[in-house]
Amino acid sequence: MRAKTALITGISGQDGSYLSTLLLESGYHVIGLLRRQSVAENQTSRLEENGWSNDLAENVELVYGDLLDESSITRIIHKYQPDEVYNLAAMSHVRISYDIPSFTIQTNSLGVLNLLEAIRSFSPASKFYQASSSEMFGNSIDPDGFQRLTTPMHPVSPYGCSKLLAYRLNVHYRQAYDLHATSGILFNHESPRRGTNFVTNKVVKGAMLIKKGRQSTLEMGNLESFRDWGHSSDYVRAMHLIMQHNEARDWVVSTGETRSVRDLCEYVFSKLNLDYNDFVVVNPKFYRKEELNILKGDSQVIRSELGWKPEYSFEDMIDEMIEYWNLRI
Ligand code: GDD
Repeated sequence: MRAKTALITGISGQDGSYLSTLLLESGYHVIGLLRRQSVAENQTSRLEENGWSNDLAENVELVYGDLLDESSITRIIHKYQPDEVYNLAAMSHVRISYDIPSFTIQTNSLGVLNLLEAIRSFSPASKFYQASSSEMFGNSIDPDGFQRLTTPMHPVSPYGCSKLLAYRLNVHYRQAYDLHATSGILFNHESPRRGTNFVTNKVVKGAMLIKKGRQSTLEMGNLESFRDWGHSSDYVRAMHLIMQHNEARDWVVSTGETRSVRDLCEYVFSKLNLDYNDFVVVNPKFYRKEELNILKGDSQVIRSELGWKPEYSFEDMIDEMIEYWNLRI
């Protein structure tokens, strides 16, 4: 049987690095879209953490491109005619999106439009996965405390707005052009490969620096916001399942549990036998212009229809991140 070909945009990011291994181990040929960076090593540092055997590595092709360089996207879609396209590329940092709103909206919204147009014109049989985000809900919560597909979407950041436009474009291309355009509304997902300016890895790395005497305080933003945190490797499994389903739809992927940033600090510091109250200092510079206060996702549909469930608990995930930094600091 012919190996399936998958294109992953954002292959060098946290989710791209986990998804590429999952697909390679399932026998796929993987094409990874890379953006040029001045430090060449940074482009593939997460991929190197996969430690692929030669057999797996020979099934990966990395190609330069950019979601905003329409010609590069068109050329790649036309050339490879991928069976599956996973769009994980984005400007993914919510707070930074207030500083670079135009770039965020161009990349995260118009970039998706470029992909959908290229697929529609040159490879309409490609299945498409759009990385949608729980940030699209903003502060809407259903009366039972959860967010789900039917919860109104009122984003509170340029990032959330950009993801909502992309989400709606994806639905439109599914309906208007019959493309197999799916999306996963993923709640926060973390791992040791998470950028250290996102809150989980910032707290774990900061606490470890304090534990080892290399830093005295940790400056944080809002400690009272709540997030539904899962593990990236569980969430890329959900992406793959979503693409294998015969019907193109939108799905919510979450743990269904919520914790505050304060709870996170308390857990991480206590694992290192420290009291976070002695080290965590609030600095308003890390506040958002408009905060999304509480996220808690209802993922019953993907659990019952696709048999997905997370394998990592919150504690397992944070312990893995602590172990990672313990070996490196
Ligand atoms: N980054 C950061 N740094 N966040 C902090 C800090 C800090 O020093 N202090 C408090 N926070 C709070 C933020 O205000 C936010 O409420 C929460 O921690 C989580 O922040 P992030 O880890 O930066 O993630 P996010 O929730 O803004 O966005 C992530 O999740 C989305 C899905 O809901 C990103 O991965 C997005 O790309 C993703 O779509």
